[in-house]
Amino acid sequence: MPKISQLFFKTAIICLIIGLAMGLQMGMSGNHTVIAAHAHLNLLGWVSCSIFGGYYALNASKAAKRLAMVHYVVYTLGLIVMLPALYFMELGNRQLEPIVGIGSLIIFAGVLIFAVVMLSKEIAAMSEARRV
Ligand code: HEM
Ligand code: HEM
Repeated sequence: MPKISQLFFKTAIICLIIGLAMGLQMGMSGNHTVIAAHAHLNLLGWVSCSIFGGYYALNASKAAKRLAMVHYVVYTLGLIVMLPALYFMELGNRQLEPIVGIGSLIIFAGVLIFAVVMLSKEIAAMSEARRV
């Protein structure tokens, strides 16, 4: 498995452990205040990172390697900025809202980089096919 997939899967499992702990804490306390932090830690963290990891495992491309690493760094930075801020915002620290916004924009940038990686593979495959 390529290193980039391992990085995404490792990030995914860390998010799942924290996300599940948050879910269990909500379930046991009956206090569901941090629902959005729980949902997005699981969905942006566990689910999306696993899909990225799976994509790179199935489409190991040397050409897109550097861009894939940029995708990983930007996306993970977005998670680190957005999710703790969202958690503490839901606990009443409304002043953290701009940080959540900045984090989500970084995540969005990471997703756009992923789109470029996917499309650049398409373009490479098309020019390859034309050569045959
Ligand atoms: C140990 C496992 C888990 C526990 C105990 C748990 C617990 C909870 C609780 C207590 C809520 C709040 C429900 C409400 O107030 O309506 C919730 C919401 C949610 N959970 Fe989990 N959860 C778990 C795992 C997961 C996983 C793995 C995912 C996604 C992959 C997930 C996604 C969500 C989502 C999207 C919501 C929001 C649902 C809505 O908006 O109604 N949860 N969870
Ligand atoms: C940067 C990315 C994202 C942003 C900024 C964002 C923003 C939001 C916002 C503002 C809400 C409403 C929360 C509330 O009413 O308290 C929400 C809810 C929700 N989002 Fe996202 N979202 C993002 C990505 C995603 C992704 C990738 C998924 C699924 C794979 C997802 C699934 C959900 C679900 C299930 C809910 C309802 C659960 C809840 O109330 O927290 N979101 N999102």
